Amino acid sequence: MTASRRKHFIKTFGCQMNVYDSGRMADALAAEGYEPAERPEEADLVILNTCHIREKAAEKVYSEVGRLRALKEARRRAGGEMLIGVVGCVAQAEGEEIVRRAPAVDLVIGPQSYHRLPELLRASRAGAVVETEFPVEDKFDHLPAAAPARLRSAGPTAFLTVQEGCDKFCTFCVVPYTRGAEVSRPVAAILEEARRLVAAGVREITLLGQNVNAYRGQAADGAEWGLARLIEALAGLSGLERIRYTTSHPRDMDAALIAAHRDIPALMPYLHLPVQSGSDRILALMNRKHRRDDYFAIVERLRAARPDIALSGDFIVGFPGESDRDFEDTMDLVRRIGYAQAYSFKYSPRPGTPAAGLEDQVPEAVKVERLAALQAELDRGQARFNAATVGRRLAVLIEKPGRKPGQMIGRSPYLQSVFVEADPGRRGEIVETLIRSAGPNSLIGDIIAGGEGKEHRAMEAIS
Ligand code: SAH
Ligand code: SF4
Ligand code: F3S
Repeated sequence: MTASRRKHFIKTFGCQMNVYDSGRMADALAAEGYEPAERPEEADLVILNTCHIREKAAEKVYSEVGRLRALKEARRRAGGEMLIGVVGCVAQAEGEEIVRRAPAVDLVIGPQSYHRLPELLRASRAGAVVETEFPVEDKFDHLPAAAPARLRSAGPTAFLTVQEGCDKFCTFCVVPYTRGAEVSRPVAAILEEARRLVAAGVREITLLGQNVNAYRGQAADGAEWGLARLIEALAGLSGLERIRYTTSHPRDMDAALIAAHRDIPALMPYLHLPVQSGSDRILALMNRKHRRDDYFAIVERLRAARPDIALSGDFIVGFPGESDRDFEDTMDLVRRIGYAQAYSFKYSPRPGTPAAGLEDQVPEAVKVERLAALQAELDRGQARFNAATVGRRLAVLIEKPGRKPGQMIGRSPYLQSVFVEADPGRRGEIVETLIRSAGPNSLIGDIIAGGEGKEHRAMEAIS
């Protein structure tokens, strides 16, 4: 058997950073002679890239491994093999425990050790391997550069991790433990990767970080750049039309970044800025390090800089000690901000986090009720935001085929999905679109003009 015939299958859970990491692992495996498989049944190596953020997310891993174990045995009976790897945030949090609980797992690797994947894979043939140290070297310096063929097939939008880890230690959150301390990638490495993405046809890059606006990267001359400066440099790359970033923390929303929303046309008018709760008492218990009025003030400054900016957020209901009054403060904040989109969750106690040990845990039935009320309010806000775009002309980046033949889906500057009638050959174009109707989760529009080039960004301000 030649090495080039081996196949891998990567299944990704959790956040966008896991999606990005899975791509980088696929590139590392390509260098080892692995090709992607269509289905896990055909794979010699199956990797689960996991999420530990809430209990449900973490438990999925074990049910997935249970299913894979049957496939692994079937392949073995047929004279083949299937190695099973668990990587990502559950791998980091649970380490050895995974192999104890699920002996079919051959390989456990935490998020900071992916550059060692080929070597650990070889070692796992002699018995299960668990790697959850935080190495001193940066994995991205040692992973192969993204493969142009994979980038081209991925379409006109791409993620690019610029910052990883978190030093904030919100009392409910596992991320500082699973991803480690804040680290920013050097400016030159990011610009180089962005150039490669653009050369492969990417028109829109979303910069990723657990706390992306805490970015502090070293430039070639030794200077330290913040996120605003990095965005400005990226905006100068010819062919890169749109820039987004996520996830931001209100504490790190500095004046330069707010000004970037006014000054840099390629920076899209959409910001995911989680607040979690509208109650000062709960914000303090969560260790969010700001008050609700600070959040209102930031949003006011953002709207002064870019009046049409669309906001999105994350919310947790049922944090320990949350009273009806606290929850009402969250509802009030939601009504006053007017989100274009949002994610909301029931609080899930996570092992090892301070809030899990607090008394006053909120009963499940109360969490369910509050979540339903909050989601109804957020859905109304989203529907209102979408309806307000009807009759407007928006610049839409055509991304992929839609549900019906002859239909394509693109994104507005505000990250709304827009269905248009278009030829698949127009993938990657930015087209001026008249919005005809709006649903709760998407828009329908008619292309009025299309084309290439930066002048089309000007349309994004047209209403
Ligand atoms: N770095 C980002 C969030 C990462 S986790 C930030 O600071 O905003 C994504 C979202 O999951 C969080 O914003 C939060 O709303 C939710 N989340 C995190 N831990 C949670 C928990 N224990 N229970 C419920 N939701 C949680
Ligand atoms: Fe988690 Fe808070 Fe860090 Fe976000 S800022 S990753 S919620 S600890
Ligand atoms: Fe989940 Fe880890 Fe992302 S816990 S949300 S995959 S950083």
